[in-house]
Amino acid sequence: MKLSSLEKHVQSLRQQQPNKRVFSFEYEHKKYWLKQVEKVRGAMKLLKSDPQQLLTTEIDTLKRYNQLKAPVPVVACSGTDFVVIEDAGVTLKHLFLKQKLTTEQALPVVQVVGKALAELHAQGLNHGRPALRDIAWRDGKVTFIDFEAYRADMDILSLQSRDLLVLIHSFYRDLGEAGHTLVHQAVAAYREAGGEDVWQHALAKMRRLSWLEMLLRPIKPIAGKDLRPLYPMMDFIKSF
Ligand SMILES: Nc1ncnc2c1ncn2[C@@H]1O[C@H](COP(=O)(O)OP(=O)(O)O)[C@@H](O)[C@H]1O
Ligand SMILES: [Mg+2]
Repeated sequence: MKLSSLEKHVQSLRQQQPNKRVFSFEYEHKKYWLKQVEKVRGAMKLLKSDPQQLLTTEIDTLKRYNQLKAPVPVVACSGTDFVVIEDAGVTLKHLFLKQKLTTEQALPVVQVVGKALAELHAQGLNHGRPALRDIAWRDGKVTFIDFEAYRADMDILSLQSRDLLVLIHSFYRDLGEAGHTLVHQAVAAYREAGGEDVWQHALAKMRRLSWLEMLLRPIKPIAGKDLRPLYPMMDFIKSF
């Protein structure tokens, strides 16, 4: 009953905002997020992956993970080209950058984050791109959101070590050198919570890439927002 009235409400929201990609709304005192297929125009169509397929993969993954009680948002309702999920709090990026947490305040948070990723992995699952903007935080609990980058095209150890490297990269990308102490704490918590094998795999993967760093060092000053974090990341890896 309740679900069908929510669905009706969602239907009218979608009619009002057919082109809005993601937005939140309140229904019966509860906050939800509505995500629709991304409308890609012109030449971008050739560059971007099929948006419909991405959303379908996201919905399937969320539902499967819901059943496994993994820490992902609960799907309230969905259709072929939209999904409505329960609110999971603020993103870590928002928490660190907008709410300006001090390192002391942030350390216990990242400890929970490292542990949560290790627990997700211990369930035999992976995320795809657990960057700080795709992890939500509320009342001491971490929820992994945005499964559009989810993939299952490699062995699980490789997928999970990729997750871990994405998380480390994202700390340096969004927080710069200030991310260093936090990365240490997150990785320590990850390893302690059963992630040692994945961490060793990630470490080996990064060490194999260290020749690349030598090539890249000279272009450090002009490197872009995604490339620049690789340098502190390499320094971090070398410290082990
Ligand atoms: N369940 C949720 N709980 C809290 N915030 C959310 C939730 N879903 C989406 N958001 C917010 O909306 C933003 C965009 O949603 P996301 O699923 O990441 O879409 P996109 O694929 O466009 O990045 C997120 O970065 C987050 O700020
Ligand atoms: Mg996102």
